[in-house]
Amino acid sequence: SQLVFSGMQPTGNLHLGNYLGALQKFVALQDNYDCIYCVVDMHSITAQLVHDDLADQTRAIAAAYLACGLDPKKNIIFNQSRVPQHAELAWIFNCVARIGWMNRMTQFKDKAGKDRENASLGLLAYPSLMASDILVYRATHVPVGDDQKQHLELARDIAQKFNNDFSERIADLGYGVEMEMGEEHVSGFFPLTEPLIEGPAPRVMSLRDGSKKMSKSDPSDLSRINLSDDADAIARKIRKAKTDPDPLPGDLDGLAGRPEAENLVGIYAALAGSTRQEVIDAFAGQQFSVFKPALADLAVEKLAPISAEMRRITADPGFVDGVLRDGGERAGARAEATMKKVREIIGFLTA
Ligand code: TYM
Repeated sequence: SQLVFSGMQPTGNLHLGNYLGALQKFVALQDNYDCIYCVVDMHSITAQLVHDDLADQTRAIAAAYLACGLDPKKNIIFNQSRVPQHAELAWIFNCVARIGWMNRMTQFKDKAGKDRENASLGLLAYPSLMASDILVYRATHVPVGDDQKQHLELARDIAQKFNNDFSERIADLGYGVEMEMGEEHVSGFFPLTEPLIEGPAPRVMSLRDGSKKMSKSDPSDLSRINLSDDADAIARKIRKAKTDPDPLPGDLDGLAGRPEAENLVGIYAALAGSTRQEVIDAFAGQQFSVFKPALADLAVEKLAPISAEMRRITADPGFVDGVLRDGGERAGARAEATMKKVREIIGFLTA
């Protein structure tokens, strides 16, 4: 059976990259899949331990989920720290994964910077907790932006090593499930999760530099569109977005070597729910002085209602807390069902 899981960290403002890479896809999936959407508060203490407002930031992400249209009855919406089975499985995965796997993660290298010896052990083990988020529900599909691809490959490696290392016990206990791996049929306890990354804007780039991804840590606020920006701010940032002097090309190939133009076209397509080809067809040969205002209007039309709804929802923190509490109970029951089996597979004494 198919199950979607994804998560977002409760740090800083949400931006257009988070929306197009993740949130928009979460909403699209809820009609056809059983979905679990998490606010990964335990991940947010890996890079910075002390936060003044972790609870409010957690509520803000949950409010964004709801404001985008995720239904808390149909989906499970909760914050990670309420379900300690994530941490329990992460410990086991810390013993499955190899240090070398973690050292190769580009996000770790970026976040740890030059002084790697001084990064927290949690930052190094971050992908192991992420794998456990997904696999404690035995989720099969994970919608994310392109920057999370490497972490999801690692989750597959962890699942595969666990399945191999414990293959006999899994078979003896009858806990294996059949799955397809390429052409092959294999049996294992944990699924080899598929990332869902496709779409016209899998990697939204900075508005100031087409070679950097849009990110909450960029010091320039002009580099990103925040979900909380008002219409004026959105229009100003798009007007000031870096572009080259040429008009939009007549075909998709004409975007090659023009990262800023490519980024804006991808953003337009994702917001409009169309393809980059359709955007190029509509704006072929037009100047950015025409395209940018159209993009700004579209962005305001899509984002303004979300931020208004977020403000409405967070005005009643008790409501959000109730959603997360209820989601946490439902998530916890499922996670515990997996962990009972995992403890047995490993051979912990539970009697
Ligand atoms: P986080 O909190 O950094 O980002 C949340 C989501 O937003 C996507 N994203 C982007 N997509 C396109 N363009 C961008 N510029 C951009 N910036 C961010 C991210 O890819 C992500 O989908 N490790 C994860 C959180 C996590 C998780 C998980 C995700 C923890 N456990 C289990 C999936 C499944 C992270 O830091 O995302």
